[in-house]
Amino acid sequence: MNPNPAREEHLVLMLGGTGRTGGRVLKQLLDRGVRVRAIVRSAGRLPEGVAGNPLLTVTEAEPLSLSAEEMLEQVRGCDAIISCLGHTNDLKGVFGAPHELVTPMVERACAAAVALQPTEPIRIILMSTVSVYRPGALDARRGGVERALTGLLRALVPPAKDNQDAADFLLEYVGTDSPFVGWVVIRPDTLVDSDVTEYALHEGIVSSLAKPDDTSRANVAHFMCDLVTEPSVWKAWRGGMPVIVNAAKA
Ligand SMILES: NC(=O)c1ccc[n+]([C@@H]2O[C@H](COP(=O)([O-])OP(=O)(O)OC[C@H]3O[C@@H](n4cnc5c(N)ncnc54)[C@H](OP(=O)(O)O)[C@@H]3O)[C@@H](O)[C@H]2O)c1
Repeated sequence: MNPNPAREEHLVLMLGGTGRTGGRVLKQLLDRGVRVRAIVRSAGRLPEGVAGNPLLTVTEAEPLSLSAEEMLEQVRGCDAIISCLGHTNDLKGVFGAPHELVTPMVERACAAAVALQPTEPIRIILMSTVSVYRPGALDARRGGVERALTGLLRALVPPAKDNQDAADFLLEYVGTDSPFVGWVVIRPDTLVDSDVTEYALHEGIVSSLAKPDDTSRANVAHFMCDLVTEPSVWKAWRGGMPVIVNAAKA
């Protein structure tokens, strides 16, 4: 039985629900009573215990091979799209095809949202990373040397460029006041696995690349779910690129 029937008003399109962060998002959304439509390459990699949940619909497909019409049908009726897509962390995943995964999927999600002309902006919630830079005062903590280093990273490592391109597309092309698309780009630091704990959200970069913080995947998932179900959280962070880190231990 749905623990919270009122939450069935939400329908989330989930990309990357078989990943270590995405799987946690999926479970937490279902635990909150939110309906989820997941596009996965293999349903066998979904997290344990979600198969057969009446709130979950799964489509098995290569996300990049979906046509514009198929994407439109996936987005239709959704109030949010969450992407936890990321290149597999091995040589083939990092340097092999596709070099761009996150950016084209974000572009296609936005195109579908705009085509649907929803009465409320569809929320795009994107898993990103602290190597992504937001020009302007909020990331002033990242000085010239670190910006040069992350620039070099983007030149050499395709997933780093992909993550920056996706964020730039939302910031520069979609903008912060579209009537059809709202977005939050979430920037975790070094990902670790633990249960949900206290965490802190910052408007810009807080730590140097040389002294990274930890960010629990479960906390990223918790924040993503709050952006769907808690209107005040969405209002506070729409158009933001929050850095999320685990709260310092007392
Ligand atoms: N490592 C870090 O410390 C760190 C820190 C901050 C941010 N990040 C970012 O966070 C992302 C997510 O992290 P994570 O640990 O949750 O990743 P993960 O467990 O590797 O999950 C990646 C997800 O992307 C999907 N995927 C990978 N390649 C794909 C492709 N070519 N086509 C379609 N789907 C594909 C995977 O699907 P399958 O299950 O089908 O493979 C999986 O669902 C990272 O990729 C990175 O960009 C990482």
